[in-house]
Amino acid sequence: MKLMVFKNEEDLDMAAANSVVEVIKANPKATLGFATGQTPVGLYQKLVQAYQNGLVSFKQVTTYNIDEYAGLAKDHPQSFYYFMKTHLFSQVDFTEGNIHIPDGIGPDLEEEAKRYEAMLKEAGQLDVQILSIGLNGHIGFNEPGHTLHAETHVVTLTEDTREVNSRVFPSLAAVPTKAITMGLGPMIKAKKIVFIAKGESKANILKQAFQGPIDPLVPGSFLQLHPNIEVYLDEKAAQYFM
Ligand code: GLP
Repeated sequence: MKLMVFKNEEDLDMAAANSVVEVIKANPKATLGFATGQTPVGLYQKLVQAYQNGLVSFKQVTTYNIDEYAGLAKDHPQSFYYFMKTHLFSQVDFTEGNIHIPDGIGPDLEEEAKRYEAMLKEAGQLDVQILSIGLNGHIGFNEPGHTLHAETHVVTLTEDTREVNSRVFPSLAAVPTKAITMGLGPMIKAKKIVFIAKGESKANILKQAFQGPIDPLVPGSFLQLHPNIEVYLDEKAAQYFM
């Protein structure tokens, strides 16, 4: 694990974005794994800037998002598709057909999970996976439990997660109870992980995830197994590491 601690978000986002741009410069047909939530917004802004400054093109890049809420269509303002379109896809030169996000409104969620998993297997090893962590230690929507999944699956979200994520919904009741999420398999197999976390609220779970025992009750702890993970934290998030 390569741990980097930053005094401010700007520098953190720039360093993390540079690590992603580096991969694309080395391989213009790179495959990227994307995450959502507030934490990666700054990184996506830096990727947009890099594109606008002519430093990178996403034209031949293929992307796979980790997760999507069940029941939310692409144009739903809280869907992860809408989030990615807003913060990245609509501002750079991705080829529409190269963008992949689980379909949250298909007739059969289990079938969709199988379809998405088959596509990930076809894609092979991701070149870089962008990740962050939920307050309860979830990665993507791999929620804490006695077991974890290697493959894409349908998950029932914990009340914790719904509570936390309700901050971007009109109400808790509006937060879906289910989602489709990539399992830990493709993440752990990625050539490189760019992991980012910010703020005091994440300090405890980060300590558990990176310095505690590997435990399915803290899904993030499995990232300790990755041979090439870059961890970008601000000082508040890293306070228990120091
Ligand atoms: C969601 C996503 C996760 C993300 C988490 C943290 O639940 N499924 O992939 O890591 O939120 O979000 P935030 O960065 O807003 O704390």
